[in-house]
This record gives sequence, C-alpha cells and structure tokens, in this order.
Amino acid sequence: MQLEERLRADIVEIGRRVYERGFVASNDGNISVRLDDDRLLMTPTGVSKGFMTPDMLVTTDLAGRKLTGDRDASSEILMHLAVYELRPDIRAVVHAHPPTATGFAVAGIPLDRAVLAEVVTTLGSIPIADYGTPSTTELADAVRRFIRAHDGLLLANHGALTVARELFAAYYKMETVEHFARISLVARQLGGERVLSREEVNRLQHLRGRYGIAAPAPLCPPDHEAGDEVSCQTVDAPSSPDARLVAPAAQPRVGSLGLDDEVRLTYRELTALIADAVKQLR
Ligand code: 13P
Repeated sequence: MQLEERLRADIVEIGRRVYERGFVASNDGNISVRLDDDRLLMTPTGVSKGFMTPDMLVTTDLAGRKLTGDRDASSEILMHLAVYELRPDIRAVVHAHPPTATGFAVAGIPLDRAVLAEVVTTLGSIPIADYGTPSTTELADAVRRFIRAHDGLLLANHGALTVARELFAAYYKMETVEHFARISLVARQLGGERVLSREEVNRLQHLRGRYGIAAPAPLCPPDHEAGDEVSCQTVDAPSSPDARLVAPAAQPRVGSLGLDDEVRLTYRELTALIADAVKQLR
C-alpha cells in the first residue's frame, strides 16, 4: 500500500474510533497528518468523522491552500497549521470533544496533577488553552501559547487537541486525555486525588527515555499533600505568553507571581521563551 493510501485509511479508521467512542458527536472533530514536507492530508469540513471514506479527504499545502479533494478542508485548519508551524517534530493532529475532558475544559480545571504513571511519562500536565472562536485565528493563537511545550491541550469551552509524530499516537493521546479526565473526575468525587510523590515523579520522568518517549511532558511538582486543596496551576508569564510556569515547590498556589518567586521551566519552554524574546527584538 502506498503511503498516502495508508494514511487515508488510517484517518478514516481514527474518525470511526473517535465517533464510536463518543469523543465527538454529529460532524465534530478533525484529523490531519503531514504527507511530506509540503503537504497535509486532512478531514473535510461538515461531515461525520465516523462515516468517512478515503476519497473524502482533502490535501492542502502548509499555508492551508487546497490541492486536491472535492470538499473543503476542516474549518479548524488554522489550528492545525499553527501546530505544524511551531512543532516541526509533529506529523499528526487530532481534535475532538471527549465529554469528560471537555467538561474539565468548560469548568476551567486543567488536568495538571501528577496522579497517573502513564500520563506523567507520556503527556505530563494538560493545560487549558484560552477560549477562541472555533475556526478563527483567535483559537489558533490560543493553541500557539501552549503547543510548544505540550502534546495534549484542553480547549476552553470547546474540546481537546492532541499531537504526535504519527497518526495513531496522536489518537492514543486523545484516548489518554479522556481516560485521565474520567479517572480524575471519579477521584474527585471520592474525596480527591492522592498525588504521586516527587521521588516517584522523578523516577517516571527518567523512564521516558527507556520507552523512547521524546515528546515534552512538563509537570507540576507534586509537592502538595494528598487531600490538599491547592492545585498546581499553569499561569502565563507576564513577559511571554509561551511560558508555562509553576509555583515554587514549597508554596504551591494559584495566582500571579512576585518578583522574587522561583520559576521553573522545561528546556523546551526556556528555548521557546528565548526564541520569542529574540523575535520581539527584531
Ligand atoms: P469541521 O467539520 O470543519 O472540521 O469542524 C468540526 C469541529 O469540531 C469544529 O470545532
């Protein structure tokens, strides 16, 4: 099977799975993959992603101009293009509205507690990108603020977005986001999560290399005790919207940072911050 033929079949299969699992309803959701350095293969707009056939997909260039296909590309193409622009390592993007994860996105609660080993190693914390009207640059810009450091995002009052080096990996990350959300919800209903210890989180982060996980998976420090109501939140840095900051280990808290506060960044976040500062100087 030729590469494009296989990728068309994979997108159709992932569309079928997101629909069957209830991660989307009606015509919701969209999926894309890089065909090569210059072209994307993408789901068409306004159809149920559960009932697509390979010939319904659309190819575009990296500026979003349609190259082939009878239909128009997804209305969320700007969001997909923003991911490919900022993350050259990424080859596939999945957007869906899984109900529990989207519930967290609607409630404004990020999935940022270190409670599940698999999530710590694969995704790290899952922040919420600000609300932006679907299909507009507003939503693409909201995604830009986090996507350099995260492979999974909640989209405020909208849904979720996952990215990976290949299609099925991006889809599986969507499964993980929803699964994590369901478990978090149950744990909160049962009285709250017991977070993993700092030592265990360090151990899990070291295992990432062994499992061949190169994607970023930044985390909030698990420094609050089980039952502690203080959640480790992501906050925007005053100087750069790209940084994901966490409160100092001894004083987990929500809110603005003081001048003397300790700020921790992953290597990727630090690089993104510097790149942005340089861009602004030009
Ligand atoms: P499209 O059918 O245009 O991809 O839109 C679906 C959707 O979920 C918008 O957020």
